[in-house]
Amino acid sequence: MESRVRAVAELVWKGKRKHRRATRVVALRTDEIHGSGPEPNRLVRGDASDVLRALSDTLSGQVSLVYIDPPFDTGQRFDFRVTVPGTVAGSPRVSLEAYRDDRGLDDWLAWFFGIAVQLRELLAVGGSLYVHLDAHIAHYAKVILDEVFGAGSFQREIVWRIGWISGFKSKARGWIRNHDTLFFYAKGGRPSVFHKEYVPYPQGYVRRDGSAPRGAGYPIDDVWNGSRLDPIDSIQIVSFSREKVGYPTQKNEALVARIVRASSRPGDLVLDCFAGSGTTAVVAEKLGRRWIASDSSPLSIHVTRKRLLCRPGHKPLIAQSSASRPRVEPMEGRRVLRARAKVDARGRVTIEITSLRIPKRAAPEVARAQVAHWSQWIDAWCVDWDYRRGPTNVSSYVFRKTSSGPLDLATGHTYSNPGKYVALVKTFDVLGGEAITTVDVTIE
Ligand SMILES: C[S@@+](CC[C@H](N)C(=O)[O-])C[C@H]1O[C@@H](n2cnc3c(N)ncnc32)[C@H](O)[C@@H]1O
Repeated sequence: MESRVRAVAELVWKGKRKHRRATRVVALRTDEIHGSGPEPNRLVRGDASDVLRALSDTLSGQVSLVYIDPPFDTGQRFDFRVTVPGTVAGSPRVSLEAYRDDRGLDDWLAWFFGIAVQLRELLAVGGSLYVHLDAHIAHYAKVILDEVFGAGSFQREIVWRIGWISGFKSKARGWIRNHDTLFFYAKGGRPSVFHKEYVPYPQGYVRRDGSAPRGAGYPIDDVWNGSRLDPIDSIQIVSFSREKVGYPTQKNEALVARIVRASSRPGDLVLDCFAGSGTTAVVAEKLGRRWIASDSSPLSIHVTRKRLLCRPGHKPLIAQSSASRPRVEPMEGRRVLRARAKVDARGRVTIEITSLRIPKRAAPEVARAQVAHWSQWIDAWCVDWDYRRGPTNVSSYVFRKTSSGPLDLATGHTYSNPGKYVALVKTFDVLGGEAITTVDVTIE
């Protein structure tokens, strides 16, 4: 009998065959250390290609699970809507660009191919990859993923129904778009971990013969949020969700948690190189997995850092950046921060922020118009009480709990030994920028 060889279709785009010069691996620089532990989780600021290349130096074949929700080439700009802290209810919100998604198809395909190759390198054999897309690009991406991982590595296409339709969306012409697509691949063709999940039977459910059900529930299939028994409506369509942090494309924790529970074990390493608001990192940490999350947007890093550090009992975390990024990006502009230290009779030190100046060009007019006092710019700040160059070793992190709530501008510390110290103070402002200053402290 003639053996059947499965043909592998290949997608070709402008420039695919062009020989690309190998790019130099740029090491990651550690900027902040929050807590100590043997294997801290990592929040990395940088372009995904640079970050993945740097990670593969030490973590090749060690990642158990990747969940990515990359830009889809939608042609849009995505804004982060910020309320300037301390303004009265009803003040206009400030739209800041979180990221742009307008590469154009050829460029997107070339870029995504490179990302897929780097993720394959980092994944362990049997490791799982989930790629969250929509119909803009999903069909192209599937062909690329088949080429990079091998068609036999493909496991499932998951359809996630976004939810009920209302308002302007219901007026759209034609069939209304109401689902995202997630592709699930396992490197090598067989996932080394898969924990099957069930949705519980509805109350009062009996089998056709009238007997009580025996199993754990209905096994979850590849259509999610498809019925009332499996409710995961997108938080983007829910007006009041406690999870929402204002990031434009934030995904639900329940959605990512389902993936993390099914395709990893406690202690496994989970990676997301398009972290956005940090959903994957938060979920991985809650479920006892180790994680690495990265993103190129400073707003994403700011939001993710705050989301993680505000959790009581958070795990040790290091914030890193790809050294290839400029130290100060034009949208940030250089801030000027001032702080002072006071030592009381018992040797307790209080550091107080006394001013923060943000250059005009870094702040949109609508935001500046709402700022009556410079402290309104600050969303969170931290102190390294014994700064010795290199990464900031943070032991005090102060954050604004609600956007209208107050922020402490002073924090205290007691040193174990007398001596001369340098304390580093760093602010994270609502625009996604950072400012640093140092203060000398002498303990007699
Ligand atoms: C769809 S959002 C991810 C949302 C995330 N899943 C969440 O729950 O918040 C895509 C993210 O990719 C980031 N991004 C876009 N291009 C990037 C690149 N070349 N490298 C790294 N991150 C990038 C954007 O800044 C954005 O935060």
